[in-house]
Amino acid sequence: MTIKKALILAGGRGTRLRPITHTIPKQVIPIANRPILHYVLEQLGSVGIKEIAIVVSPDNQKQIKHYVELHHWNLKLEYIEQKAPQGLAHAVIVSREFLKDDSFLMYLGDNLSGGRLEGILSTFESAKADATLMLKEVDNPQQFGIAEIGTDGEIKRLIEKPTNPASNLAIIGIYCFSSRIHQAASRIAPSNRGELEITDAIQYLLESGGIVNSERLDSWWFDCGTKDDLLQANETILAQLSMQHIRGSISEDSKVEGLVDVGKGTVITNSEIVGPAKIGKNCVITNSFIGPATSIGSKCKINDSRIIRTIIMDNGIIDSVAQVENSVIGKNCRIFSSRKSVDKKQFMIGDDAEILL
Ligand code: TTP
Repeated sequence: MTIKKALILAGGRGTRLRPITHTIPKQVIPIANRPILHYVLEQLGSVGIKEIAIVVSPDNQKQIKHYVELHHWNLKLEYIEQKAPQGLAHAVIVSREFLKDDSFLMYLGDNLSGGRLEGILSTFESAKADATLMLKEVDNPQQFGIAEIGTDGEIKRLIEKPTNPASNLAIIGIYCFSSRIHQAASRIAPSNRGELEITDAIQYLLESGGIVNSERLDSWWFDCGTKDDLLQANETILAQLSMQHIRGSISEDSKVEGLVDVGKGTVITNSEIVGPAKIGKNCVITNSFIGPATSIGSKCKINDSRIIRTIIMDNGIIDSVAQVENSVIGKNCRIFSSRKSVDKKQFMIGDDAEILL
């Protein structure tokens, strides 16, 4: 039986990304100018999974829906409210009516991955598994949920943040489950942090004779939980631009180098843009340097400034700032200096902020 349904988890608190997440849910933060969830939906659609429910919180559901629906998807989408972020297994419990007794793929809505989903689906289906976990080799297994596996990829043991890891295979946010997960989720108790943990439900499956196996991801993966993760994901996705694409106008005294994507209506004057970089529609860039790994939303104005490895959301104004780097800047922000500043600055600011340097 092939999997036709997916559950995307986009509830949660997003505390590590505050203050950005006070005004924009992390699952729709733009990476290379597209909300994270758009990549996830595209990946699911590409393997024929069309019935998708997105678990949202009471606080973020309006915005998640707004950003998801900026694009017309050929998918059957619904939203399920999880009243409080009581854990990933709790999100499965509240989605029971949508999931019925069907097998499903579960995807954490703040995850981005370059791999395709065919591998995990066929591993799950050919073994008639109850759970298949996507695993990825990591350098710092102490910071992840880790799986110990046998020669055929079967899961032997799951260990949360081990001090002496016996494996470097982290459990990332992509799983397939059979309907047995519902019984497992109903049997577990909240963890020390008060959540119903999906790893506990999987452990229950293992101990009650369920088939639990794994698929190795051989591509990049980001859990976009922190500013550094966002910037790294932005850099990786921008690096995949396949060509220079300029739809705006570039003055003769400007220079554009490498993989650069410039939107319609954007005017670039006396500036240098070095890719990979993406600049949205109707921006005005004057006397500035836009460096690698930067994405700038639409209707932004950048004057007399250098911007490197930064995400700037729509309607931003940066004026006379010597160097903005490694920053995430929300929508409608204004950062300016009354005199030409000289130092490098890093920002992590939510929507509508105004900073005078
Ligand atoms: P996490 O990153 O583990 O949690 P969080 O989003 O609350 O962030 P932070 O730790 O910074 O406070 O969540 C992973 C994904 O799962 C994310 O997209 C939110 C989602 N989620 C739910 O949908 N329901 C939940 O109960 C929890 C805990 C997370």
